[in-house]
Amino acid sequence: MRKRFFYAGRTQMQSFLTPPWRQTFRRRLNAWYARGARDLPWRRTRDPYRIWVSEIMLQQTQVKTVIPYYERFCKRFPRIIDLAEASEEQVLQHWEGLGYYRRGRQLHAAAKKIMAENNGEIPRSRQELEQLPGIGRYTAAAILSFAFDIAEPILEANTIRLFARLAAMRLEVSSSQSQKSLWSLSESLVPRKKVGQFNQALMELGSLVCTPKSPNCEACPVADLCLSRQKNLTSKIPVMRPRATLEKIREAAIVICRKQRFLIRQCGPNERWSGLWDFPRMRLNQQQESAVAEQIIDGVRNLTGYTVDPGSRIKTLKHGVTRYQITLECYEATIASARRKKGDQTPHRWVRAGEFSHVPLSVTGRKIAQHLVAHPALET
Ligand code: ADE
Repeated sequence: MRKRFFYAGRTQMQSFLTPPWRQTFRRRLNAWYARGARDLPWRRTRDPYRIWVSEIMLQQTQVKTVIPYYERFCKRFPRIIDLAEASEEQVLQHWEGLGYYRRGRQLHAAAKKIMAENNGEIPRSRQELEQLPGIGRYTAAAILSFAFDIAEPILEANTIRLFARLAAMRLEVSSSQSQKSLWSLSESLVPRKKVGQFNQALMELGSLVCTPKSPNCEACPVADLCLSRQKNLTSKIPVMRPRATLEKIREAAIVICRKQRFLIRQCGPNERWSGLWDFPRMRLNQQQESAVAEQIIDGVRNLTGYTVDPGSRIKTLKHGVTRYQITLECYEATIASARRKKGDQTPHRWVRAGEFSHVPLSVTGRKIAQHLVAHPALET
């Protein structure tokens, strides 16, 4: 038999997920959302294109980081046709700094596909949306419910945490069994009307109240419906997969200057910053301190075809990408030979310091560029 519990302020008992439980849950959540929802720019529109842009940007990125990017992006690409007609470089320029650039490239590719195959009309079914690059079940459901109030359940980081706590789920949330249960929990909650608002409210509660650390149960409109709260388990749930340990690696970025122009290259499709521009960059072998110069010479030659004379270290940057903790050493170098061998086939350019602002650069590439602009003495 399901466990029973008291519903605050009333003597009636409600079991988890029964029709009266769900009705109470929806009513309280909607009332809470109506009182305290944040005014976010993508909540002011029902345009599926803009909702889609926002949802792609919000994957793995915080709301406050996304807002200025979303506003700039929608100003530059107000309609799907504007995005489809832009070059990938223009799109990446508006994505620069947001990270996970594959999202921007896939958004662009999907916009082109919708223009070519669907007359610019965003599909209204989950099956069709999920055929597009970068759109999975959550994003499809968000677009359909927020823009058209189509009855689709959602499940993303905030709602995973919220549902896992509500149901006192002791299994690791990313396991396929948990994912199945969580999706079906979300499905069982979908209301008949105003689905979009309800789904937004679920995420809002997860994001503002049912937070990863120290959830604010005192402010939660559904605290008394929550099994974790009853069992005093809120700090133990959700159960997450242990994080992968970070691997420390060492890389070099080479600043090559000739006639007051710097050499940059466009990263190829299989590289970390694919589509973005960067200073020639390579992994350094940790064991071979004495051979750094040789590694730089080989690396630059492979990447650009130029032979360089490595100079001194200008700067060291530390940053993290996925499971790597990277120490990036920036060296200056000069061209040693006028002859250029065949390097890889990615495009390269010589740009003036003042032109860096027109080129989409990797995050660390941008930091190096800013350093060069601030220290013009490095130009030769
Ligand atoms: N995270 C993902 N989608 C969101 C949305 N629409 N509003 C707030 N946070 C979100």
